[in-house]
Amino acid sequence: MPLIRETMVITTGRDGRAHIAPLGLIAEGDDWIIAPFRPSATLDNLEAVPFATASHTDDVRVFAGCLTGRRDWPTTDAEIVPVQRLTDALGHLELAVIGVADDAQRPRFRCRVVRSVQHAPFQGFNRAQAAVIEAAILVSRLTLLPRERIEGELAVLKSAVEKTAGPREFEAWSWLMNKVAAYYDR
Ligand SMILES: Cc1cc2nc3c(=O)[nH]c(=O)nc-3n(C[C@H](O)[C@H](O)[C@H](O)COP(=O)(O)O)c2cc1C
Repeated sequence: MPLIRETMVITTGRDGRAHIAPLGLIAEGDDWIIAPFRPSATLDNLEAVPFATASHTDDVRVFAGCLTGRRDWPTTDAEIVPVQRLTDALGHLELAVIGVADDAQRPRFRCRVVRSVQHAPFQGFNRAQAAVIEAAILVSRLTLLPRERIEGELAVLKSAVEKTAGPREFEAWSWLMNKVAAYYDR
């Protein structure tokens, strides 16, 4: 399996509006693959405007927020590509699509890094951040995975949050847990 980095991907629509979504960037040599499942605003945007930014952030509220209807995070123009980036990113990549492998389920956009910028230092690992990202992935698959599996994995992740979270991680976790509860209480 290839290396995958979980980042916040921003794309631009035909109407010029920015769209933000957490996506895994898949390593392929020096390039990165963005592979959105159909249907997806990210996919439509990459077809319309073949550029993206990947913002690296340790504020996991951005990941959890995008999965729970909170997409209004501050963004700033990138320098080379016609796309925004997260204003508070620790660093970001500016990406140009150089090829597309079409697929009925999950097309793959091969992206070349045209600019890479560091804005702030890496602060060290935090287990609650990793737990929130895992929980966000589970929340993005609520309709696909069985309830027992979702609840079993969340129970394991909860312990890392209780032991190591700061305020941002607790807030992100609470947004995700409220969404899981609302989904199963329908
Ligand atoms: C950490 C993380 C990684 C994700 N990676 C992908 C991905 O590689 N491809 C994908 O289609 N969705 C991925 N998702 C789910 C999308 O973020 C989510 O479905 C999103 O709404 C994409 O659809 P959109 O482009 O219409 O916003 C990921 C979610 C999380 C939390």
